[in-house]
Amino acid sequence: MGAQGPAALQPASTYATTHNMEHFLAVAKDAAHQAGALLRANWLQPKTIEMKTDIVDLVTNVDKESDALITGLLRTHFPTHQIIAEESAVSGQESPYQWYIDPIDGTTNFAHGFPHFAVSIALGHESRMIVAVVHDPIRGETFSATRDGGAFLNDAPLRVSQAPSLDQSLVLTGFPYDRRKRSEYYLRFYQAFMMRTQGVRRCGSAALDLCYVACGRADAFWEWRLHPWDTAAGSLIVEEAGGKMSDFIGEPFRIHGEQTLASNGLLHEEMLTVLRELI
Ligand code: IPD
Ligand code: CA
Ligand code: CA
Repeated sequence: MGAQGPAALQPASTYATTHNMEHFLAVAKDAAHQAGALLRANWLQPKTIEMKTDIVDLVTNVDKESDALITGLLRTHFPTHQIIAEESAVSGQESPYQWYIDPIDGTTNFAHGFPHFAVSIALGHESRMIVAVVHDPIRGETFSATRDGGAFLNDAPLRVSQAPSLDQSLVLTGFPYDRRKRSEYYLRFYQAFMMRTQGVRRCGSAALDLCYVACGRADAFWEWRLHPWDTAAGSLIVEEAGGKMSDFIGEPFRIHGEQTLASNGLLHEEMLTVLRELI
């Protein structure tokens, strides 16, 4: 292939030159696929279900097995990296490299045999996400991204939608685990978007919600009080697919923050106008 071929069209990747991104991505995909196979083998089987804090915050034996599988694999490949996984304590010494793991995002769906959940794995370097994988084992869909390297669904490049305004949009949301205490407050947001969009969906996996914005199946997503492992991978996938991330007043998105807003970019200001009025 000459200088005009696909390789010449790739954006220059500053991260790819300084980090072993291909290796990071390959290990993350391998871990997500192995954990995905575990989820697929167990989603219709009887599970041990425990309540973490109250009756809407569940954890199953498979969450813990998936967590152990992924963290074990990452520790073998990257013994000096720190690992922050939902179902285990932070492991490894302080490091500029931090892995964020959600061994099952969508545990309530998984526990009920509702076929919509994913494994989410991201690598941050000095607080910036640089590698992301979200794997849906039921549909066989692997969303991935590397910083400056684009976003993909399996092997196909991803792009956000072109929906220009809220009245032509389908948007996604979720309700955090304190929803019984603050139901009226959260429903105000739901109602506002119900009145302005073509539809609001609550699918039960924030990692997949973000990936669905990234690939144009939905046009925007908002949710309160997500955890770093819910959003670390999906937020990079949205950005690399050309979308926008922020909090609810338009400040930069932080995985440790309380507010997650993702959009195709075109809708962002309209989403912010509604959110700013309600918070
Ligand atoms: C949950 C899911 C859900 C969202 C919750 C999350 P989990 O993660 O992403 O969509 O609404 O806020 O905590 O508990 O299934 O890993
Ligand atoms: Ca989660
Ligand atoms: Ca989880």
